[in-house]
Amino acid sequence: MRMRNPKYMNEVIESCPFLIKDEINFENDYPIHIEIGMGKGNFIINMAKKYPHINFIGIEKYSSVASIAIKKIMELEEGLPNLKIIISDIKNLEELLKEKVEVIYLNFSDPWPKKKHAKRRLTSPDFLKLYDEFFKGENKIFMKTDNDDLFAYSLDSLKEYGYEFKKISYDLENEDTQNVLTEYEEKFRNQGIKIKYFEAIK
Ligand SMILES: C[S@@+](CC[C@H](N)C(=O)[O-])C[C@H]1O[C@@H](n2cnc3c(N)ncnc32)[C@H](O)[C@@H]1O
Repeated sequence: MRMRNPKYMNEVIESCPFLIKDEINFENDYPIHIEIGMGKGNFIINMAKKYPHINFIGIEKYSSVASIAIKKIMELEEGLPNLKIIISDIKNLEELLKEKVEVIYLNFSDPWPKKKHAKRRLTSPDFLKLYDEFFKGENKIFMKTDNDDLFAYSLDSLKEYGYEFKKISYDLENEDTQNVLTEYEEKFRNQGIKIKYFEAIK
């Protein structure tokens, strides 16, 4: 998601105490869940509120977008000690996230519809290979999307790579009452578009 830089961008990023630069330190042993492409952060913020015994990291490659999430977190009176942010392309995080992660969330990832751009999809084999490095124990990838083609591609790609599916839904809104919404999800739901979801394990 590209957007104009908010005027507060540099200030919030420079003063952010929960921005990870070169070391992950939550000062506890709770499992770590990451969202790749957190956008403006609604999902990861509400997950961190709902599950205080899980550590969450929201990852976003654009500073402009990430600064919106950071500002929202900074404005929370109660604070969220179990939530940190990384501003980076996921491709650059192999060392930092090595064997640290229990679950990866991919929410409304860019679909890259043209075949020639298939390698850029976050569920293409090159990304799955990168994710192998991140996981501690079993690999768990939970994905939701409005996009039928990306969903079908991702099911095939993960299956081919050795993942099994513990859950597949073609209408998440009516099947999972525990679901935490993302910004894109809210927008699509309001348009009556059904959300597709899977939980994959390897
Ligand atoms: C379509 S938005 C969805 C945002 C949010 N997850 C939601 O559901 O509302 C996808 C986001 O992923 C980010 N993104 C895409 N590729 C990425 C990558 N390789 N590393 C980190 N972030 C990425 C984009 O910048 C964008 O903000």
